[in-house]
Amino acid sequence: MGSLMRAYWHPVALSSQVESDGKPLLTWLLGERLVAFRDTQGRVGVLDDHCLHRGVSLSLGRNEDCGLRCLYHGWKFAVDGTLMETPNHDSPAYRERKKARAHPVREHSGLIWTYIGAPEQLPPFRTFDFERAPADSCHAFRANSSANFLALWEGGVDSSHVGMLHTNDVRPSWAAVRRGEDVPVSAWDSLAPAYEVEDTDYGYRYVAFRGIPGRADARHARQVPVILPNMRFIPGHTDFAIAIIEVPMTDDQTATYQIAYSHNEPITREWSRQFLGFEGEWYDEESCSVTMQWPHAMGQDRATMATSWSGFAAIEFEDVAMALSLNDPWDRANENLVAADIAVMRLRQMLLNAVKQHQEGGPAPGVLVEDMTRAVSYDRKVLDSEDWKTI
Ligand code: FES
Ligand SMILES: [Fe+2]
Repeated sequence: MGSLMRAYWHPVALSSQVESDGKPLLTWLLGERLVAFRDTQGRVGVLDDHCLHRGVSLSLGRNEDCGLRCLYHGWKFAVDGTLMETPNHDSPAYRERKKARAHPVREHSGLIWTYIGAPEQLPPFRTFDFERAPADSCHAFRANSSANFLALWEGGVDSSHVGMLHTNDVRPSWAAVRRGEDVPVSAWDSLAPAYEVEDTDYGYRYVAFRGIPGRADARHARQVPVILPNMRFIPGHTDFAIAIIEVPMTDDQTATYQIAYSHNEPITREWSRQFLGFEGEWYDEESCSVTMQWPHAMGQDRATMATSWSGFAAIEFEDVAMALSLNDPWDRANENLVAADIAVMRLRQMLLNAVKQHQEGGPAPGVLVEDMTRAVSYDRKVLDSEDWKTI
């Protein structure tokens, strides 16, 4: 899986995490320790964090005068890995011979992407739907959590948990009934959606259908594209959508990037933050960490559960709590899968097929599809006379 993952570009940081001549960012990607920094001229470098000289962390170094200087003996590196200075070894010839391992970088839509695979297999940089949204209606967030990326991704394609785990947001009738209010049932009150799945060159897309009370000729449909190696696009109720990318930092640490975007309805960063839940007691904005742990029941507040279904403050924490609770680890052979788990099964099958194809020397699926903008999500009514695949 690590080899397959290395065939793709991945987000490695938010643009906002690295400022010109600011603090270098220590982070991990696929188990590799990296440092990201923005130099005096605004260029971003992503280097191996272990200094070329004797391996201490470059993230502790000084970022100034167009380079990152190691604190230990002062070797200084440019964003492309060029060795600019070696104060304890005054040899221009040596500096020309050596170079730090620097990774290609692309910056777009608030994300810094990098590629750490074999340099001779550098794939094209793919363009996604969210990259076409106006910059002021495209807002990227990051949440590091101590969960395996697949546990989070499986939750992301599993539509049948949405009307249950996320009752507070998508099925307000539950709380309303408890408050003695009369609320009409909606499609979300149907808890066993019917799925249809279609393979695509980037992975697959699925649609979850729910009946609409009082409508015999139409169903409520949510389409989600699932894009190798770690993405999905979730539709909002209106024009906005959320691109979610589960980037493995290590086997048990994941950086989840969420990009809220809208092509036609302006959305602010503050609205997006609140909607996604990147705030409050269990999110540390400075380190982008979700801090929920068992000693605090993952942050669940049972005192609120008379009217809060989950006891969690927001969708993000509900999802992370479920994935974190799988740690220890959980053996998937013990599961009892049902028809509603078809998208989860499809995800596993797709990953296993992709690994096999890659091991046999084929290209990683979808890695060469430069224009990915046709992979979009939707949330809408679909008439029985319409085909969900061609809408
Ligand atoms: S370890 Fe970095 S300069 Fe010596
Ligand atoms: Fe969820």
